[in-house]
Amino acid sequence: MKSLKIVAILSILLGGIVVASIGLVVADDKPSKPSVVSAKDASIERTRKQVKMLDDIYKGSIVLVTKNYVNSENDLPAGTAFKQIFAIAKEKGWHDVRLVDATDNPIEPENAPRDGFEKRAIEALRAGKTFVDEIVENKSGSYLEVATPIPVVMDKCIMCHEHYRNVAAGVPIGALVYSVPLLE
Ligand code: HEC
Repeated sequence: MKSLKIVAILSILLGGIVVASIGLVVADDKPSKPSVVSAKDASIERTRKQVKMLDDIYKGSIVLVTKNYVNSENDLPAGTAFKQIFAIAKEKGWHDVRLVDATDNPIEPENAPRDGFEKRAIEALRAGKTFVDEIVENKSGSYLEVATPIPVVMDKCIMCHEHYRNVAAGVPIGALVYSVPLLE
């Protein structure tokens, strides 16, 4: 009789522990929803930061090359050289960058803004925005599309782009447009 009582008490205790641990697991699962949302926000922030770094490096290099190596209309323009670097970055699967015109008068027709994000972004940049972005979700994953302005940084630009002379001060003549997979 005594041992039966002990077994009964033990099973009640064990049952309590099992119920309590289920309770803990369930309680643990509860905050997962908000943390998923903030994980995505954090990933967008990391990707924005990477694009800002790329933008500084690409634009800084384009200006440096133009300043030091482009002295006549016959020299290889930095824009042409960097389109080849963008092609390498794309081929390696890192990201996609396009050199895009914002004057309705590109030297190279393929640099005209494409319908959709590029046209929307050029409009926003010409209105004074300095960083325009949108999230794109498709079959191959989530991407951050970003456009940043290109101003007429030096007189040398006008050597090959005569119409830049008439652009109002502070209005960009082009943009770099990025499509970067969201960083984990
Ligand atoms: C030596 C001539 C030359 C100089 C100098 C030059 N560019 Fe260009 N630029 C070109 C050529 C050629 C293209 C077309 C490249 C292509 O798509 O292959 C181009 C393309 C561009 C584009 C894309 C739109 C378009 O017209 O096709 C932008 C924006 C641009 N250049 C900005 C600049 C800026 C800003 C400077 C000054 C830092 C500059 N360029 C200096 C020759 C030049």
